[in-house]
Amino acid sequence: MAKEKTLFVCSECGGTSPKWLGKCPSCGAWNTLIEQVAGGSGPANNRFGTQYAALAGVSELATLSEIEATDVARTPTGLDELDRVLGGGIVSGGVTLIGGDPGIGKSTLLLQAVDALQRAGQNALYVTGEESGAQVALRSRRLGLDHSQVQVLAEIQLEKIIATLDATRPAIAVIDSIQTVYSDQLTSAPGSVAQVRECAAHLTRFAKTSGTAVVLVGHVTKEGALAGPRVLEHMVDTVLYFEGDTHSSFRLVRAIKNRFGAVNEIGVFAMTERGLKGVANPSAIFLSQHAEPVPGSVVLVTLEGTRPMLVEIQALVDNGGPSPRRLSVGLDRDRLAMLLAVLHRHAGVACMDQDVFVNAVGGVRISEPAADLAVMLAITSSLRGKPLPRGFIAFGEVGLAGEVRPAPRGQERLREAAKLGFSVAVVPKANAPRKGTKEIEGLTIHAVERIEEAMDVVRRLD
Ligand code: TYD
Ligand code: MG
Repeated sequence: MAKEKTLFVCSECGGTSPKWLGKCPSCGAWNTLIEQVAGGSGPANNRFGTQYAALAGVSELATLSEIEATDVARTPTGLDELDRVLGGGIVSGGVTLIGGDPGIGKSTLLLQAVDALQRAGQNALYVTGEESGAQVALRSRRLGLDHSQVQVLAEIQLEKIIATLDATRPAIAVIDSIQTVYSDQLTSAPGSVAQVRECAAHLTRFAKTSGTAVVLVGHVTKEGALAGPRVLEHMVDTVLYFEGDTHSSFRLVRAIKNRFGAVNEIGVFAMTERGLKGVANPSAIFLSQHAEPVPGSVVLVTLEGTRPMLVEIQALVDNGGPSPRRLSVGLDRDRLAMLLAVLHRHAGVACMDQDVFVNAVGGVRISEPAADLAVMLAITSSLRGKPLPRGFIAFGEVGLAGEVRPAPRGQERLREAAKLGFSVAVVPKANAPRKGTKEIEGLTIHAVERIEEAMDVVRRLD
């Protein structure tokens, strides 16, 4: 294929340069020039609207009411937990990005999914750039998919991949991974932002014109950001991220963007000897087993997507040096700093000279503010060296003024906790069952409006 001319475009000002420069010649910003194919999809080529009008003419418009609203057709993958995050199944012509740490199970999950789809009569193509065909075959044997009819293509050159896709027109194509694919129209190395973006744009265009559902696999770098794939989030229809601790067998798949379904829905899997198995009732998997209650541990009822889950929050508060550390795993560190300030100001609990560590057990990442109360109670419990009573749960958001705000769908959370045998709860007042309404059996509920009140309740429970 003849090499098309490439251009370096500044991501800040849109200025261009024929060769790579460290500093943008137009705006002077450093390291902002990204290579692009002239006439490709980048911002520089969208700047000249008048030229487009001359070249392509102006398109006809239609009002919303004139356009027929058809619901998208979904094909379930047969893996219930994956379908849950996808919003029911794969959508033809839809592009999904699935990200996660190396070794977390992306290839395993997708191989299982495409095999199930193939068995349901949907043609599937698995493009592997990371592993050889033999390695993929080995994995499929390990997964017990000995007679799999899924087609495999070991290829990393974009033009060849698209040509093959175009000739075979599968119902679903997996690109494992987008970072290994390169286009020879760009001089940048495979895996660079320019390559990843250009290749993804071509594959997206192919999906939209052909109706093939395309799944792009993207690796996360050590810093936690997806190298390249972060820049793809806006381009694709659905973004799924794998979470979980590679040391535990549980894996969460979370939808953080979904044009065809709800976000924040999660799918829960367990990694077994024979691949990933869906966990239909995940509410109790993130609890560690303590024979006796221990200081610094509080069970939080969190709501992930449509399902309540119980997650143990652990805190350790210990004498720190001159500059004490605040570290969190699975929880937001800035929010932790804020909660410590609220604890000090409104509840008189001072941790200024202490190291504070908090952890959400099992590698779950909790982003909802309803975790605040549990985090603060865990910190106080560790500081005082006093465990909370057996069967204790908490949830609720805490504001800067020390108020405890309700969490969404509190009744559901409480019922789930009661179902799992929890017996004492400290929750926001608005989440507690109102006087005269039906109580939740087996659960003693302490409703609080302020953080001081929550501390008093806990002290009385000692
Ligand atoms: P993999 O899907 O290759 O991860 P990724 O594509 O995200 O890099 O998963 C690899 C890990 O999963 C590896 O450590 C082995 C483990 N594994 C199992 O435990 N059971 C299995 O059946 C398979 C296929 C893999
Ligand atoms: Mg892989």
